[in-house]
Parts: sequence; structure tokens; C-alpha cells
Amino acid sequence: MTRPDTRQEEGAQPARRPVLDGRRDRERVRTVIIPDHGDLERLLADRLVEVIARETARRGRCVLGLATGSTPLGIYRELIRRFQAGGVDFSQVVTFNLDEYYPMRPDSPHSYRRYMWENLFDHVNVKPENVHIPDGGTPRERLAEQCAAYERAIAEAGGIDFQILGIGKSGHIGFNEPGSSPGSRTRLVTLDTITRKDAGADFFGEDNVPREAITMGVATILEAREIALIATGEHKAAIVQHAVEGEVSPDVAASFLQGHPNATVYLDVAAAAELTRVKTPWLLEPVEWTPALTEVAVVWLAEQSGSPSRRARRSSSSAPVTTPSTI
Ligand code: PGA
Repeated sequence: MTRPDTRQEEGAQPARRPVLDGRRDRERVRTVIIPDHGDLERLLADRLVEVIARETARRGRCVLGLATGSTPLGIYRELIRRFQAGGVDFSQVVTFNLDEYYPMRPDSPHSYRRYMWENLFDHVNVKPENVHIPDGGTPRERLAEQCAAYERAIAEAGGIDFQILGIGKSGHIGFNEPGSSPGSRTRLVTLDTITRKDAGADFFGEDNVPREAITMGVATILEAREIALIATGEHKAAIVQHAVEGEVSPDVAASFLQGHPNATVYLDVAAAAELTRVKTPWLLEPVEWTPALTEVAVVWLAEQSGSPSRRARRSSSSAPVTTPSTI
């Protein structure tokens, strides 16, 4: 069989705008800020297509760790588009999903199994026997055995080549909620209140959100050879700042990525808004003091000292916090 051409056709993609740059002294894991969502999705799809081609050529299979949630949807759409254009072949791709609610009927509209088939697998040539998703329908007494089998299956597949991650407002990766240890493995966990609240809308009310989930552990995730954590939207900005610039701590499971040799955090501008290079770049390097940046700095200083001009900030129409030209 001829392997599909995974190269980009000349001129087929719109030109990419440059990523936001600046000093990164406070960032403890490689972090890339990409203003345009389409660019972000294409960049991640490029990377996945490359890894799939490289690993299938090298050892006849490629093992992907996949995430659910709203963040990766655009990447999956882009991968489907590439597949339809003959740019990627999933026939030798093996997948392991991060997590599943528990209990959860596999055919429930809320199940991550259903999400994966609807949003990716049904549209590409992945073999059903190569798809692995924790089974939320497993009887409780067989869960420990199931989780151990999941770990064994990952090891037998040769480990994960590329792991996609989102991040929850609790700092979770997979469903590794605050308190998860760096040595944790696939297991049943209790979901954090923040996580259940965030999922409430999907379940028509927080009370309907399952209280537990099966998740790959932090150690399972960190064994992947390459990791991409993706976050978009201002609601992720605070937790992203903790994960990227804060201490490594079980309070924020995503901070464990700081110890991984090949992990990258991909952000849109809104999710990057609390990073020092975006929020207070003058702390890192000389900046060009435009009127807008000066106003931002004055407000920041007032907030630091608890001065009453905070009120002025709240009542004023907010200045652009940072734009590429201010960094
Ligand atoms: P989201 O979820 O992509 O829907 O924001 C991310 C996560 O909870 O890991």
C-alpha cells in the first residue's frame, strides 16, 4: 500500500502569524502562545501527522494518548480534514484515552467513548481493536483489575509516542485532581468540586455529574515520549500560570509536566494572560512604554500596593492588557 503523502501541499495552508514572543524567565516548561486558534489547531495537527508518519515508518505503529473536552475538538476536526485529503493514515495508529466518568454506560451520550467516535474515530481509518478507552461500565469489583490491564496494554503497545492533554480549572490532567501523586497510575478517582461544577452544563446540572472517574495516572502520562498540553480561553489563565510558573505540587497536577523532558504547553492569548511575559513583561526586560502599557502597569502597581486606584481600574473601560505590540 502506498503511504499517504504527509507533506503539506505548497500554499494549501494560510500563512501563520508569528507566535507571541518575549522573555520566559519565569516559565518552567516550554510554552508557546499562538494568537490564532486556527493556527494552533494546524500546528498540533502537523505535529501529530509527523509523529504518526515517523512512528509507523519506524516500528509499524504509532501510539497516541488522546484527550476529550472542548479543547481538542478543533485539532480532531483538522486531523479528519487531513485524513480526507489523504494526508494521514490511521490504520497503524493505536490510541489510549486519558479518562472516563464512572459509572458511565459506554453508549451514553455523556460517555467519552461516544465523544471519541463521534468527533474522530468514525471519520478516520483507525481500527476499532486499536482504540482503548477506560470502560465506565466495569463493575466496581473488577475496576482494579481493569485499570492494571489498561497500564499493561499501554506498555505492550510500546508506550505512548504523543500525548494530548487539556487542563481543568482544578489543574487536573486527565482526571488527576489536586492531591494526585506523581507516582499515580490508572485508577478510580473522586472528582473535584470545581470539575463537577464545570461539567454541570453538559449534564443539565451539577447533581447529574458523576462523582467518580477512571483516569490514567500522573506517572502513566509522564511516561509519554512527547506531551502537548493545550489551553484556550481566559477561564484557564490562572491555572495555566500556576502550572507553568508555579512550584511543582500535587495541588496542580499539570505542574508535574515541568519535570518532563519533552512537554510543551500551547496557549491562546487569553489562556496566557496571567503569564509574566504577557501580564507584566516589564519585570523581565525593558519594554516600550506605550500609553496602553503604562496604564496597565500603573493599575498593576496599585493592585500590588492595595491602593484605592484599584477602584478606578474597575470602573474604567479596561485598557488592552497586552497585545503583541506591547510585548
Ligand atoms: P476542556 O476540559 O477542554 O473542556 O476545557 C479540559 C480538561 O478538563 O482537562
